[in-house]
Amino acid sequence: MADSIGYYLESVFSLKDKVILFTGAAGGIGAAVCKAYAKAGAKLAICDIDERGLASLEQEIRSDAPDAPADKVMAFRLDLTDIVSIEACVNSVVDVYGRVDVLFNCAGINKREGILDVEESTYDRIMQINLKGLYFISQEVAKHMRKAGHGNIINMASHNSVGMLGGCSVYGATKSAVTALTRSMAVEWAKFGIRANAIAPGHILTPLTAVTWEHPTRGDYLRDRIAMRRPGQPEEIIGTALLLASDASSYMSGMMIHIDGGCLAGGAPWDFDTKYS
Ligand SMILES: NC(=O)c1ccc[n+]([C@@H]2O[C@H](COP(=O)([O-])OP(=O)(O)OC[C@H]3O[C@@H](n4cnc5c(N)ncnc54)[C@H](O)[C@@H]3O)[C@@H](O)[C@H]2O)c1
Repeated sequence: MADSIGYYLESVFSLKDKVILFTGAAGGIGAAVCKAYAKAGAKLAICDIDERGLASLEQEIRSDAPDAPADKVMAFRLDLTDIVSIEACVNSVVDVYGRVDVLFNCAGINKREGILDVEESTYDRIMQINLKGLYFISQEVAKHMRKAGHGNIINMASHNSVGMLGGCSVYGATKSAVTALTRSMAVEWAKFGIRANAIAPGHILTPLTAVTWEHPTRGDYLRDRIAMRRPGQPEEIIGTALLLASDASSYMSGMMIHIDGGCLAGGAPWDFDTKYS
C-alpha cells in the first residue's frame, strides 16, 4: 500500500533526471528547496555568489546520496551583477548537463531603509541582483530551452510584490517587476514550450529576514499581520516548489502562488467575544 502511494506520487511529482539550474542556492530558502529537489530525483546545478555556502550544500546533498553520479549536484559560481558571470555560469551548466529543464531564480537581496535615505549605489545593487540579473539569466537560459523545445522557469517574487512593508521600496519594486516579468515570459515563450510561474513567500525566517523577526517591535508587528501568527520556515516552500518544477503543473503558466500563513487574507484578528462550545 505504502509503495503504491509512493509510485503514484512519484508519477505525478517526480523530478527524476530533470536538470535544474538554481540561483541563490546557498540561501535559506534556496538550500531547503535544493535538498528537496535532490531527494525528488533532480540533477542540480547549484549557483550562488557564496562559494562556501555552495560547497557545504553540495556536500550535504552528496552525503544524503553517496552512490549518486557526479552530476547529481554540482556547484557553479554566479554573480548576478555581472553579465559575463551570468553567461559563463549558464554555459558551464549546459556544457556539463547538456540542457536546463528548470531555471529557479531564487537569489535576492534587500536593504531596509526609507525612500528618502536610499542611495543610488543601494538602488542599483538591489535592482541588479533582484531584477536585471534575473532578467538576463532567464534570457540566457531560455535560448537553450527554446532550442530544446521545452523549459520551465520559477521566479522568486514576494509578499512585497503586492503588499508593501515600509523600508522596502527598492526591493518591493523589483519584486513587483518580477511578477510582471513572469507574465511576460509566460506570454512570449509559451510557443517555445516554456512556462513560467512565481512563488511569493510571505514572511519566512531566513538570514534575509532574521533581523526583522529579532527586532524588539517588528517581530510582533509581523505576527499581528499573519493569521497563523508565526514566521514561515524555508521547508514550507518545498511543496509549492515541487508542484511548479514537476509536470504536475504542466498547464500552469504566468501565475504567482502566495505562501504566507494567511497574511494577505487579512492577518490576525483582534480578540472578539464569540464563544465556541
Ligand atoms: N525570507 C523571506 O521571508 C522571503 C520573503 C519573500 C521573498 N523572499 C525571496 O526569496 C529568495 C530567497 O530568500 P532567502 O530568505 O532565502 O534569502 P537569503 O539571503 O538566505 O538567500 C539569498 C541568496 O542569494 C545569493 N546572492 C546574493 N547576491 C548574489 C549575487 N550577486 N549573485 C548570485 N547570488 C547572490 C546569496 O548569496 C544567498 O545565498 C529571495 O529572492 C527573496 O527576496 C524571501
